[in-house]
Amino acid sequence: MKKLMILLAVLMLPYYGLVAGEGMWIPMLLKQLNEKEMKAMGMRITAEDIYSVNQSSLKDAIVLFGRGCTGEIVSDQGLMLTNHHCGYGQIQQHSSLENDYLTNGFWAMSREEELPNPGLTVTMMKKMEEVTAQVLEGVNDDMSMKERGEKISENSKALIEAAEKESGYQVAIKDFFIDNQYYMIYNEIYKDIRLVGAPPSNIGKFGGDTDNWMWPRHTGDFSVFRIYVGPDGKPAEYSADNVPFKPDYHLPISLNGAKEGDFTFVFGYPARTSEYLPSYAINLIAEVTNPPKIKLRETRLDIFSKYANADPKVRIQYASKHAGVGNYWKKMIGESKGIRRMHGIERKQDFEKEFMSWAKLENNNYQGLIPAFEQSYSELEKYNMAADYVREAGLGVELLSFAARFRSLSEVDKETADDKLQKLITSAQNAGESFFKDYHQPIDEEVAVALIAIYHAEQPVDFRPEFLNEIDNKYKGNTKKYVQQLFGKSIFTSEEAVSKLLQNFSYKDAKKILRDPAFEAYSSIHSFFDQKLRQPMQQLMAQNDSLQRLYMLAQMQMQPEKRFYPDANFSLRVTYGNVDGYHPADAVYYNYYTTLDGIMEKEDPNIYDYVVEDKLKTLYKNQDFGPYSNEQGEMPVAFVASNHTTGGNSGSPILNADGQMIGINFDRCWEGTMSDLMYDPAMSRNISVDIRYVLFIMDKFAGASHLIDEMTVIK
Ligand code: ARG
Ligand code: GLU
Repeated sequence: MKKLMILLAVLMLPYYGLVAGEGMWIPMLLKQLNEKEMKAMGMRITAEDIYSVNQSSLKDAIVLFGRGCTGEIVSDQGLMLTNHHCGYGQIQQHSSLENDYLTNGFWAMSREEELPNPGLTVTMMKKMEEVTAQVLEGVNDDMSMKERGEKISENSKALIEAAEKESGYQVAIKDFFIDNQYYMIYNEIYKDIRLVGAPPSNIGKFGGDTDNWMWPRHTGDFSVFRIYVGPDGKPAEYSADNVPFKPDYHLPISLNGAKEGDFTFVFGYPARTSEYLPSYAINLIAEVTNPPKIKLRETRLDIFSKYANADPKVRIQYASKHAGVGNYWKKMIGESKGIRRMHGIERKQDFEKEFMSWAKLENNNYQGLIPAFEQSYSELEKYNMAADYVREAGLGVELLSFAARFRSLSEVDKETADDKLQKLITSAQNAGESFFKDYHQPIDEEVAVALIAIYHAEQPVDFRPEFLNEIDNKYKGNTKKYVQQLFGKSIFTSEEAVSKLLQNFSYKDAKKILRDPAFEAYSSIHSFFDQKLRQPMQQLMAQNDSLQRLYMLAQMQMQPEKRFYPDANFSLRVTYGNVDGYHPADAVYYNYYTTLDGIMEKEDPNIYDYVVEDKLKTLYKNQDFGPYSNEQGEMPVAFVASNHTTGGNSGSPILNADGQMIGINFDRCWEGTMSDLMYDPAMSRNISVDIRYVLFIMDKFAGASHLIDEMTVIK
């Protein structure tokens, strides 16, 4: 009944073309555009509680973590939560064989034990303002693309300089609605961020790549940091004298969970979406470029797995590479399937027909847009494909991407200054060290044979790197033979040979790099990219951008009653929806939450991704859940809702109708990942770890209840 009422309330709103759940909204415009709907869906706080420049509000607790994730402040001592996969790099950096925090977890039991992370920053938005008129001052329709771009960057630069001087904040201008609107964003950047806690990987990454992008999920994907500032309360570089940051606001935490149908919202930093593309672009992504990329990645993953399953050392060496290649492999599969299932291309085509009729009546300038897109995307196809093969096939061979690291050294000569040469040598030495630590040549050789064969077969003779043609000329098309000599003769397969080369390296040794067959192959890839791809691609893309800008504007003019939300652009956004299960396939229904029972069902001591520690098993056996269980007495682990999220939303808080935190967002269900191009209310679900599981792990598993004491926990 409650669900029905929510549905009715939403349907009665005077908007059309959008479904509940869809949209990533600008916080400062919530009052104007969304508050009414959010309240109708169940929200009990106000837009002003979420974003205000006059009083403290939820936004004061949300930060950009590093460069690609979100974090949130949960205590008046600057304690911060994000995902385990967001803090992964820091946790790894502090790990060694003796102190393996990745495997065993890490918990600072006092402030002194919290670990600094040079280079890691946290960015907090202080306010934003629309500056479209100022940015576009002096811009007119007669300008060329280049003139327009120059004028805009000149204006922006002056505006930023003035604003920084006046405010003392770091200021950026970002474009919204594809260069149709501009906002000035004032940021404070914190530089002393310390690691406070992380669960062991078999909790923080439980299910690993097997479960990645999937529901039902059982991952305790969280880690804990703290923001420090100078004694004066201002951001400062690391110093032992720094003190915990006192935020204007920290998120209260609710132990009441959320039930089917409940209103939720996610507040964070979504990275990139493209919701307003023409059908030609959707076709290019979903049908033309995703499939070969999927195939190339699958080829690599199969080989990685074969070796990893046979040798635990190799498994560790290739864990992070596997995760990196596997993450977007799965996402692309979900995306292409989702677009097909939604008849996404046809939908866009239908819209384009309507658009053409509208343009014919209303605005002749727009009539050429759709045919122009058809033209530009058909030209782009060949280039995009070639660039994908460079990245996914050519540089998918580790040997070749390692050889690439020696390019600057290969270019030194008599004139190169000593200190510069020394720098290049040191950087090559470092590259070598981290490369060989995790390199298993038999894998790479097998990968090379497979990838190069596909590359060779799929890309036209006149539009591919020269080394592929050499396989025809010198090796009668026999890829395997070519690869054998490549690996046999290159020095870049041998740690010893590389370190010998770098010892006493002088400019005369540059030719040793230039003559190496792996470097030669890499060079031919590089010059292909440089000479045949770079320039035409840049030009086509710039042309495309200006078409997109007009098309965006035209779509908004055509549908004046529709509420539009701008594509994600790494600025702070709010998305809202309901807790909701879904039907991923005929006759299959997925419930909206998972529990510790499911971890025990998946448990398998022989499968790396599903190992469960004795301590957790004992807590489970004794049903020792403290105050963190749900009404049924179960230990909840994760849940799904219809919030429209994307990459960058990792680590974002998911909040209830009262603005209390109930979980940490960390993924999407892959059936719904086409939401970066097209949101589907039936399938698009964000996945969050339940905050009760997070606290349970901190308290009962890790004995770090002092951290919970700092938080504002609502029972
Ligand atoms: N799919 C999530 C994201 O896009 C999580 C990735 C990290 N986890 C993993 N198992 N690789 O970032
Ligand atoms: N795991 C993603 C991230 O790191 C979030 C999942 C998504 O793309 O929705 O940002």
